[in-house]
Amino acid sequence: MLSLAERAVQVLTTADGREKTALGRAHAAEWFAARAAGTPIPVGQALPPLRPARPEKPDLLDPRDVPRRRPGTPAGRLALLHAVAHIELNAVDLHWDIIARFADQPMPLGFYDDWVKAADEEAKHFNLVSDCLEALGSHYGALPAHAGMWRAAEDTAGDLLGRLAVVPMVLEARGLDVTPGMIGVFRASGDAGAVAALETIYAEEVGHVAYGSKWFNWLCGRAGSDPKEVFHDLVRHYFHGALKPPFNEEKRAEAGLPPDFYWPLADGIPPSQKII
Ligand SMILES: [Fe+2]
Ligand SMILES: [Fe+2]
Repeated sequence: MLSLAERAVQVLTTADGREKTALGRAHAAEWFAARAAGTPIPVGQALPPLRPARPEKPDLLDPRDVPRRRPGTPAGRLALLHAVAHIELNAVDLHWDIIARFADQPMPLGFYDDWVKAADEEAKHFNLVSDCLEALGSHYGALPAHAGMWRAAEDTAGDLLGRLAVVPMVLEARGLDVTPGMIGVFRASGDAGAVAALETIYAEEVGHVAYGSKWFNWLCGRAGSDPKEVFHDLVRHYFHGALKPPFNEEKRAEAGLPPDFYWPLADGIPPSQKII
């Protein structure tokens, strides 16, 4: 039987988005069926590629070269959905990568449960947004996309705490901040399909940030270190630039991310400390 780490590498080395997500979803279903039966699939070990396989299209451009379009136009909304599909495909790989990349470190089975579930949800998100693109007569790959998405993974390839700090607790938490605005854009344009897809993404991403926060705190607890201090050090080390308010304080709280984790890393002053 293939180990979980070997399955993760299979997903990472599959290029096509629909094939990658179908394979990942099948592995997730088998993982949870085996867990429920009390006969877990061994975690094992396997070497993940430094970068995941990607389809020939979209062309990956430096972020400065990706054309900006205003969301008030149909072309702008299509570009926004395309960018979200690209983020979701990257997220599928990020979650399988954390499983394979750090499989040599002993972690409770619950760690793998959480990331397999998150990877499965990202696959659903990619498919939902790809369906929206196809309903508009387009598809994932039709527009250029951001080339820098994998940088956080490469930068933290040797540091599990760094990976948790930067990926779920900074990047995915940022998703919680910006998704309500995107939902508003598609609600205003009357695209019910895109609204439904983004609402599913918004609800499920809270869980991914929560998994990050949970395992970050758990690892700090095991090492006897102060999670807040470690978080600040790691984000300053691996993340390029300040965090951008406004923050979705409500959803961040739901995900177990306290304000004193992110405000000290932000551009600007927290509202409670502003001098009026
Ligand atoms: Fe997602
Ligand atoms: Fe996510």
